[in-house]
Amino acid sequence: MRRTHTCGALRAEHDGLSVTLLGWVNRARDLGGLVFVDLRDRTGMIQVVMDAAADTIVGADALRSEWVVRIEGRVRLRPVEQRSARLATGDVEVEATVLTVLSEADTPPFPVDGSVDAADVNEELRLKHRYLDLRRPEAMAPLLLRHRVIKAIWEFLDREDFVQVETPLLTRSTPEGARDFLVPARARPGHVYALPQSPQLFKQMLMMAGVERYFQIARCFRDEDLRADRQPDFTQLDIEMSFVDQDDVLELNERLMHHVVRAATGTEISLPFARLPYRDAMDRYGSDKPDVRFGLELAVLDDVFAASAFNAFRAPLDAGGAVRGLVLRAPHAGAVSRKTIEELEAHAKQHGAKGLAWVRRAGDAFSGPISKFLGDGEMVALAALAPDEGDLILFVADRWSVACTALGAVRTHLRSLLDLPIAPGHAFLWVTDFPLLDRDEASGGWTYMHHPFTRPEDDDLPLLERDPGAVRAVAYDLVLNGHEIGGGSLRIHRLDVQRRMFAALGMDDAEARERFGFFLEALRFGAPPHGGIAWGLDRLVMLLAGARSLREVIAFPKNQRGVDPLTDAPASANRAQLDELGLTVRERVS
Ligand code: AMO
Ligand code: AMP
Repeated sequence: MRRTHTCGALRAEHDGLSVTLLGWVNRARDLGGLVFVDLRDRTGMIQVVMDAAADTIVGADALRSEWVVRIEGRVRLRPVEQRSARLATGDVEVEATVLTVLSEADTPPFPVDGSVDAADVNEELRLKHRYLDLRRPEAMAPLLLRHRVIKAIWEFLDREDFVQVETPLLTRSTPEGARDFLVPARARPGHVYALPQSPQLFKQMLMMAGVERYFQIARCFRDEDLRADRQPDFTQLDIEMSFVDQDDVLELNERLMHHVVRAATGTEISLPFARLPYRDAMDRYGSDKPDVRFGLELAVLDDVFAASAFNAFRAPLDAGGAVRGLVLRAPHAGAVSRKTIEELEAHAKQHGAKGLAWVRRAGDAFSGPISKFLGDGEMVALAALAPDEGDLILFVADRWSVACTALGAVRTHLRSLLDLPIAPGHAFLWVTDFPLLDRDEASGGWTYMHHPFTRPEDDDLPLLERDPGAVRAVAYDLVLNGHEIGGGSLRIHRLDVQRRMFAALGMDDAEARERFGFFLEALRFGAPPHGGIAWGLDRLVMLLAGARSLREVIAFPKNQRGVDPLTDAPASANRAQLDELGLTVRERVS
């Protein structure tokens, strides 16, 4: 069975060599007794020529696409005029002496020979036959890139004295802000395991165990609304380190990323990464994961409208909110019509805004529905932002986070709408100085920004009870081209602080003990100061591969409804299984 060469390896220097090849028939053409086969394996493609009349070449004329064959033959140079620049092997071909058919194949439900653009094939159909889809070199490439990324991570972290440790998948809930996937336990009727949303608590307990430097390529599970950059089961590079401060973690991650991007893609990225405090990221870009590869920064207009006659602006300001503006100058201002503004307004509203106000420079004044409310001072300030005829300013007034976020969404939407140029390369960025807590709109209480184990700034500890919203966290997110590709923090390592954090989250002692008793217990026995991060590995590979969705970088992904079209999971459980687990299903959706 052994091959002597892979299909993609043959070059002019192999002229005259006897070879044995294994692979799939990409396409076979019978030109009057001479059969031309493009033979494909993972490494590439080579043209094989067979004389159907030769006795060792039985069945050449029957060959069809996707049959699996073994070829023995001799490499020869193609005549100069027949050389192909399309293939890396295009200078040569293999003249077959023996053909062995290893498997026949039905006609695939969609062509995988490159004759049809994958984008023109229904994605559901491709996922249903993902093993065929992956035969396309472009579909396989992200998996190979992913392999190189993980290999580079191992190399680097091993060299830096990190220890790889696996943590359990059948465990207790680890809150990261999503719903848990639960697994009923047969041996303990009425009880469930939770699949981990992350290995957070285990990696912290590994620090308490003295591992000091841990990593894991960790599968995580989150039952949340799916998007192009979210899967219900996904992979993190999970890292934790003892006796570190924030700079130690960031610096190590920068060197790691540099190594990974170089090893996996051959690209050099520049260090250190920019750092942007959360507050500035929101004020300037309207996002905690800003895409800084294009301008169009937001304008802070709180002072301008502090005494505005327009109630929709002044009321939020009076209540401690904000007014943010987005200024469009020529030529972009002219490209934004009233109709476009309506579209942008709908977009802003989807992100919580009550409206999207606008004014357009017209002579010495402004036109637009709210222009009549503009006082002299406002007029002067806005005129400085929009000095030329036709310049446009868009506004959102609301609570600070809503005003920023909604206008930030308008900003990114305008980028694609106006096709604004994007700076080339990878724009890595740390977003730092997050607040520890955020208002929970539903309950009116406080909720965590990252997770309940994030360390507050020492100086802010006294505020935890008095003014929870003002407490800063020692937390950081890693952002690449407008995507959050990692997040981490220093952790609480003192029992009293962890208790106060739970209390700030509205959890009483009984609930804290019930949910995290084992962890509080662990904190009693000498926990080192520690911190870490998790990278969204799928997201990183997606961005390095230039892919549009996580589905392209995961071997067997779920679709947008969380279903795997290949296995049709999730599937119903049969009666016997349910009985064994002590479960009854109230209502089955077919
Ligand atoms: P966080 O929740 O920020 O942090 O997750 C880390 C990174 O994982 C990626 N990610 C996802 N990728 C694909 N599909 C999803 N559904 C999904 N959810 C998250 C993101 C994110 O930045 N335990 C902490 C890390 C820590 O504090 O060390 C954690 O899980 O890229
Ligand atoms: P109204 O006075 O409510 O008809 O609103 C006049 C204009 O202001 C409309 O274009 C609204 O979209 C816009 N608008 C209303 N409320 C807000 C707000 N909070 N922020 C920005 N624009 C708003």
